Parts: sequence; structure tokens; C-alpha cells
Amino acid sequence: MTSFSRITGTGSYLPPRRVTNDDLARDLAGRGIETSDQWIIERTGIKARHFAAPDVTSSDLGLEAAKAALEAAGRSAAEVDLIIVATSTPDMVFPSVAAILQSKLGIAGCPAFDVQAVCSGFVYALTVADAMIRTGSAKCALVVGAEVFSRILDFNDRTTCVLFGDGAGAVVLEASAEPGILATDLHADGKHVGILCVPGNVSGGSVLGTPFLHMDGQAVFKLAVRVLEDAARTTLQKAGKTDQDIDWLIPHQANIRIMEGTARKLKLPREKLIVTVDEHGNTSAASVPLALDHAVRSGKVKKGDTLMLEGVGGGFTWGAVLLNY
Ligand code: UT7
Repeated sequence: MTSFSRITGTGSYLPPRRVTNDDLARDLAGRGIETSDQWIIERTGIKARHFAAPDVTSSDLGLEAAKAALEAAGRSAAEVDLIIVATSTPDMVFPSVAAILQSKLGIAGCPAFDVQAVCSGFVYALTVADAMIRTGSAKCALVVGAEVFSRILDFNDRTTCVLFGDGAGAVVLEASAEPGILATDLHADGKHVGILCVPGNVSGGSVLGTPFLHMDGQAVFKLAVRVLEDAARTTLQKAGKTDQDIDWLIPHQANIRIMEGTARKLKLPREKLIVTVDEHGNTSAASVPLALDHAVRSGKVKKGDTLMLEGVGGGFTWGAVLLNY
């Protein structure tokens, strides 16, 4: 009987260049833009982020995370029969990062595609992989979140450029007789497209519109606080669990104030909140699997623990996955 899917390995990768708030503030000062370590920490909890070198792509970061996850799961790339990559910063317009990653892993034949749900991307991708495993379409899926958000940041806009970073996280999700993923809950509301978007596109050989990230931070903040609680509660209800069953809350790592607010609403002590936003910044679709891998490798998350993963971001999209690790 293999009617469930379960995470059997996690991995992540950060590009080596670590940029502190002070580094960024110095760089912005050179452009006549004022920011400070104090403002960024107080408003977001971010102390540093990693930026990829100019020639490094999402598939490069995803490859390192995928290799680490496969090793942790004790699987070889040849055993993977499904690849889903969550990203909003693909290597190229097409084909997908997943197809490029498949080739870099030295395998061929299995389905490979990207999921575009911005910062909710990993939670979306995990939900799709879970459904495909439970219906028998796959047995050993590689689910990756990989981003180079530094490419779409306007370094003349202090309200956004201090918030994001680059990185990748991955899990191996396998068919299992034991329940791993317990319940999922996904949503989107496209009328909020304008509050968080990169409005440009490629047309007739040039970029039409702006290729930089635009965000109405306060509007996103307010929506995020509300939907993260709703998604967690609905997911718990679907699984027949309560907030007190959660061992670890692993929300999208965008702002410590949103994350702590969600933990408070779920009546979870601060110690049950996994925090990597301080060192990673907001890595969009990579943030949840990066935080998960760091929590596993630091020894916090142990086999059998109940985890609540949550994503929220552009679209507007949001969702949650409750699982037994
Ligand atoms: O990944 C998808 C999910 N994304 C999110 O969850 C992000 C949600 N939003 C946020 O995290 C917060 O809204 C921000 C961190 C983006 C902004 O924090 P805030 O507390 O909402 O600040 P604010 O936008 O109200 O700005 C307060 C002040 C403004 O100055 P005035 O108008 O009060 O004079 C800004 O101009 O802070 C100023 N400001 C800055 N000052 C120094 C904005 N950015 C900066 C900066 N450095 N980098």
C-alpha cells in the first residue's frame, strides 16, 4: 500500500556571496539612497542575504540543493520519476528550469515542469507532487524551490531591494505506506496582481514594461497576516488536527513580524517558529525548503515531527501543507 507521500530527504544551497545590511547600505549610499542596518532589522528581521554571481542561474542553485536532498534520501538521480521546480526567476523564458535541471542531473524521460506561484511556489509544487504520487503517477519526486531574485531587484528602490535574496531548497518526496503529507490547502486571488509583480514581459525583441519587482509592502503585509492564519486553520481542520499538534511552523520567510504574528495567532510559542529570514532574506519560492533543510540539518526537526509549511506571495497566492516529517 502506498497511498501517501512522504519527504525522505531535504537539501539546500546558498550562493557564497553574503551581503550584509551594512554592505547594502554602503552600496545604496553610493547612489544617493539612504537605508540602514537598524531600519532593515527592525522592520523585517533581515540581517543578511546571499546574491548569486552574474552567470549563476536558478537551475545551478537548484542542482546543488537537489543533489543534497537526493543524498539525504539515499536516492540516485536515476530513481527520480518527477521533477517540479517552483520559481519566478527562470533561467530563460522557456524551457522550464525543471527540464534544464533534469539534464544537469544527467537523467532523461521523467516529467519535468515549473510551477509559477511566486513566494507560494514551493507549497504549490509540493501539493502537486503529493497529488501525483497519491494517484500513482510518480513514486520518487524531486520538488525544488530555486530563485535568483537579485536579478529582478531595482537597486534604486530601497523599499524592495533590501528585502530579497537568492538560493534554493529541495526535497525528495516518495510514495509511502505511512502518512507524510497530511493535508494541503491552496488559494489565489488574481485581483491583487498589482500589489506584488514584475510587470514587464519580453516582446518583439525587447522588454515591454518594467523588468523590476514592484511591491506595495503594506498591502501585502495586511493580506499575508490574514491569509496565513486562514490557510493554517483550514489545513489543520482537513487533517483533523489542532494548532497544538504543530511541532514546527515553517512559514514563508519574508518578514519576522508577519511570521511571529502568524505564530501568535496559532497560539504557538516563538520557539516553534523556524526562522531563516535573518540570514537569507526573502528568497521567494526557495524560502520554505531552505528553512526546512536548515531546521532538519540543525537537528531541530526530527523524524515524526508535525510541520506546518506556509507560503504567501504574488498573484496573490497562498497556501499551506501539514505533514509528518
Ligand atoms: O514575498 C511575498 C511576501 N512579501 C511580504 O510579506 C512583504 C510584506 N511587507 C513588508 O514586509 C513591509 O511592509 C515592508 C518591510 C516592505 C515595509 O515595512 P513597513 O513597516 O510597512 O514600512 P513602510 O512601507 O510603512 O515605510 C515606513 C517608512 C517610510 O518612510 P516615511 O514615509 O514614514 O517617511 C519609507 O519610505 O520607511 C521608509 N523606508 C525605508 N527607510 C529606510 C522604506 N524602505 C526603507 C529602507 N530604509 N530600506
